[in-house]
Amino acid sequence: MNVLAKPADLEAAAPAGAFVEEVKSVQHYTDRLFRFRMTRPASFRFRSGEFVMIGLMIDGKPLYRAYSIASPAWDEELEFFSIKVPDGPLTSHLQKIQPGDAVLMKKKPTGTLVNDALIPGKRVYMFSTGTGIAPFASLIRDPDTYEKFDQVILTHTCREVSELKYGEDLVQETINDPLIGEFAKDKLVHYTSVTREDFPRQGRITDLIKSGKLFEDLGVPPLDPAVDRGMICGSMDMLKDTKALLEEAGLTEGANNKPAEFVVERAFVG
Ligand code: A2P
Repeated sequence: MNVLAKPADLEAAAPAGAFVEEVKSVQHYTDRLFRFRMTRPASFRFRSGEFVMIGLMIDGKPLYRAYSIASPAWDEELEFFSIKVPDGPLTSHLQKIQPGDAVLMKKKPTGTLVNDALIPGKRVYMFSTGTGIAPFASLIRDPDTYEKFDQVILTHTCREVSELKYGEDLVQETINDPLIGEFAKDKLVHYTSVTREDFPRQGRITDLIKSGKLFEDLGVPPLDPAVDRGMICGSMDMLKDTKALLEEAGLTEGANNKPAEFVVERAFVG
């Protein structure tokens, strides 16, 4: 069944409260991961790190899933990084999109992985696994992040080496970017590990924190609530285990209305 449509086909029948946007580019990384970029409505405002509901019309009805916006707030397009679930109600269709196809987006972004939810500090750790890197793809391209912190440490752990490629390209693009590269070159550190294949650095991020290897590799002291801040995005289990380690180190969880030392958000599965 092909559920894909062009924006002009959907304009008249656009579901209430949704934008109809046009896919501009699609890049497949592995048989499980792809990214796409689409047009951004002129009236759509969001904070780097937030998520939004993305969807397609399926059997005459809109079907949405939550997606972190992977592009920064200043970008004229919107970028998303998605998993492909073979039987996934949305991603089994979404993975087939091509430039020119229509994608629905609800109008209101939200989320806690935003700079505003953290109190100032010296160093921010962005802990991600799998597609959990998406909100950080937004934040590491936002000048506010570098204004707020002296060091920005993006950790990304995946099962397989090929799954690190999106993050590797992203960091390279960020460093080469005329707007943000100047800050990123000095402040951004990309720390990768792999759990199910050979790779120079192996293991879950939680184990690398527990053993102290993370801090040893980075040449920084262990987590300290006086100077360190954290943002976590991954599976439910990864969130729970990483959060417990930050709490053990004395950091407290914050939210939009109560900024503190770390924030947490689930990496959504389409
Ligand atoms: P592992 O291969 O040991 O399960 P997933 O695709 O399942 O979300 O996994 C992405 C990455 O997150 C994998 O490297 C996986 O390691 C790791 N991971 C899974 N569960 C946890 C957890 N509870 N804490 C830390 N890392 C985890």
